[in-house]
Order: sequence, then structure tokens, then C-alpha cells
Amino acid sequence: MKRKLVAMTLAAVMGLSVAACGSSGDDKPANDGNKTEDNKDAGATNDENADAPDDAGDAEGDDGAASGDVANKDKPLVWFNRQPSNSSTGELDMSALTFNDKTYYVGFDANQGADLQGTMVKDYIEANIDKIDRNGDGVIGYVLAIGDIGHNDSIARTRGIRKALGTGVEKDGNINSDPIGTNTDGSASAVQDGTLEIGGKTYTVRELASQEMKNSAGATWDAATAGNAIGTWSSSFGEEIDIIASNNDGMGMSMFNAWSKDNNVPTFGYDANSDAVAAIAEGYGGTISQHADVQAYLTLRVLRNALDGVDIDTGIGTADEAGNVLSDDVFVYNEEQRSYYALNVAVTSENYQDFTDSTKIYEPVSKQLDAAKSPSKKVWLNIYNASDNFLSSTYQPLLQNYDDILNLEVEYIGGDGQTESNITNRLGNPGQYDAFAINMVKTDNAASYTALLNQ
Ligand code: BGC
Repeated sequence: MKRKLVAMTLAAVMGLSVAACGSSGDDKPANDGNKTEDNKDAGATNDENADAPDDAGDAEGDDGAASGDVANKDKPLVWFNRQPSNSSTGELDMSALTFNDKTYYVGFDANQGADLQGTMVKDYIEANIDKIDRNGDGVIGYVLAIGDIGHNDSIARTRGIRKALGTGVEKDGNINSDPIGTNTDGSASAVQDGTLEIGGKTYTVRELASQEMKNSAGATWDAATAGNAIGTWSSSFGEEIDIIASNNDGMGMSMFNAWSKDNNVPTFGYDANSDAVAAIAEGYGGTISQHADVQAYLTLRVLRNALDGVDIDTGIGTADEAGNVLSDDVFVYNEEQRSYYALNVAVTSENYQDFTDSTKIYEPVSKQLDAAKSPSKKVWLNIYNASDNFLSSTYQPLLQNYDDILNLEVEYIGGDGQTESNITNRLGNPGQYDAFAINMVKTDNAASYTALLNQ
């Protein structure tokens, strides 16, 4: 009992440190409230395990130890949201992805989603051509908020917009994804003016400006920076801006609230965060759901399966005993890449009512696992930036809903979004956990984590 109290106090302190870290940002801190809940659940499972012969099955361990004697390097590991890869070339880091035979990546199909976002914007322009060109100069002007020039999702989305609108130029066999600064005269070399034929008329499409939204401390995908940028852009060429495109909803909503809503300029984002979906009723142009409900499930499910020693497809492509199963229209598995990719869906004024709660678990995989067969296990999981809108307001709440169903006691660590060591410092004792879920600050940095597990 005494040891349990110590564990709970420790957990509360760690929860506080997560909250404190989040408060340095401008957005909601990562949810620390569920520590108590997790401990409570762990306690319940503990009772069920009370007659176990020794401490080995005592996964939640009042003394903080993981179950069994598995070496850290042999424990299940899942990378999520940031795929181990070279941030300049995009080449996958296969040694991180095959760290051991229980290693996987969970993300979503970045190119399919990027194409959807580009097409959504183009369709909007075509359907609203009578009112889109606000100053009637025949040029449809857009500005673009870029999340992180070294993040594959961000690169794909920038390319998707430029491809659909005809503003992309080729570089090394692909569409150039560099930010251009300002380009109101159309002279930038990293983009070109595109043309769209609509109703027998030819329109020019111009990327008026684009910028990586990185703050002075180094945090990328930074919503506040995007809000400032639209302020600067609109005060110098606001009349020319007909569309705002953003690599994500966090930055998109910041621009929408700062300027686009009042000026009836549609903003298009990505992630289908609840606030962005709600804003569609007020003129937000649209967003893309990357099926975070499926990704969060997969993130924890692959760990669960590896811990239980069952086929990795259990409860994924093949129904488990509780009846959890995913259909193949919501994810793909690439075995060679050891990667699960959720599929994206466009969310517009036509269907947004179906997406209003981004933290709702996906019904086909919502059934509780039997604790006798899938006993409680401890998982160390980090979110690279406790202030990232998508990860903190959508992904983490979903993980917290699934961890109970999957009988996993998850320790959530929130990073500062800038330094890997801020996170790795909090993986000081991997021996206390049965499995790991990692969201790196930079996709190149997998080795800083695997080095700790190899020790
Ligand atoms: C999300 C972004 C998020 C980023 C963080 C992306 O997949 O769409 O909203 O900021 O991941 O890594």
C-alpha cells in the first residue's frame, strides 16, 4: 500500500511536469489528468492478478518494474506520427524501423492525404468561382503556411497544393516544396503561376507567399507564428488573398481567427481537429481527417499484440475475440516498411457533421479486451511537443481512450517540440516499462532513443 502511494505521488509529479512543459506554448497542454485514471485501472487489474505466483505478472508493478525479464532492446517499440527517415531526402531509416522484430511505425498515407487536400481546394475554387476572386483581377491568390520543411507530411502537403493548383515546379524529379517568402509579382523561382480553366475562362493562380511557421525557440508547425504571418501578409497585400492553405489545422485556425474569418476568405487545413471542423460552419474552407482514431488505435494495438505474442494482425485486419477489426478502406500495411498507414478523408461543408468530435474512438475497434488474456502492461509514450494542436487535442485524447480498452497503463510524456534530449532525459529507466511508443522531434533522430534501449 505504501509503495502504491509512492507510485501515485510520483505519477502526479510527472503529470505536473507534463502540464508545466505544455504551458510554455500557446495551446492546450497535453492532458495530464489521466494519470490518476490509469493508476486506478492498473489497481483493478492488479487485484485480478493477485493470485499470480510471483511478481512477474504484475505488470503495473507497485514497485515500478515492468513484467518479466525481457531486455529493453527486445521489447515492443512503435514509432508514430514521425517516421524514422532522412529529413532532407525522405529516405526511410530502415535500421530504426527494424530495430527488433517487434518494431513498427504507425502514421497515415501522406501522399494520398496531400492529393486530397489539393483537390479539395481546387474543387472549392471551381464551385465558388463567381465570388472567389475578391479584387476581380483575374488572379486567384493564395498564401501557404508550411509546418516543418524537414517533415515528410509537411513536404507532401505543400506539394499537394502546388500540384493541384498548377503552381509547382520540378526539382530533382519532384515538386519543389521550399517556402518562397513573398511572391506578389509572380517572380519566385520555386513556384510558378498556374492556370485554371473554369466555365470557359482562364484564371491565373498565384502563390502570393509561403513560410515555414517556426518560432524563435525552434518549434515548428507553430500556430502563433502563422497568426502573425497572416497579419503581416494581409496588411501589405490582403486584397489579393483569395484562399489560405495550411499544412495543418493548428496554424490554419490561427490564421482563420486572426484574419480570414472576418474577411470571408476560406482557410483550408489538415487534421480535422474538433475546433477546425466546427469552424466549417463559420466559413473555414475544409480540412482532411487523417483518421487519427484509427492511428491511435494502431499505435497501441501493435504493442498489445507484440506483448501478447499473438499474430500482429489480431484486432487489425483479423477480428480479435472481442470483435475488434479494421476494414481495408481505413488503413494499409506495408510489410517491407514495417509501417501501418491510415487513409485520409476530406471534411468539407458537405460532411463535417460526421466529424465534430475528433477524440471519439472508432466504433469497429471499441471493444474491451479480456484482462485475463491481455493483462495490464506498462507503456512509455511521448508526444514530441505538448503544445502541438493535433497531437494534444486529437491524438493523445484518443490514445487515452484506447489505453483502457487495451489494458495498457501508459505513461504520457510531453516534449517541448524543440529538443530531443528534453524527451530522452525522461526515458532514464526503460527497464520500468514493457513497451515504448515514440514520437521524435526530428525524423532523423531515432538513434537517440534506440541507444537508450540498447544500453
Ligand atoms: C500533423 C500535424 C502535426 C504534426 C506533428 C502531422 O502529421 O498533421 O498537425 O503538427 O504531424 O508531427
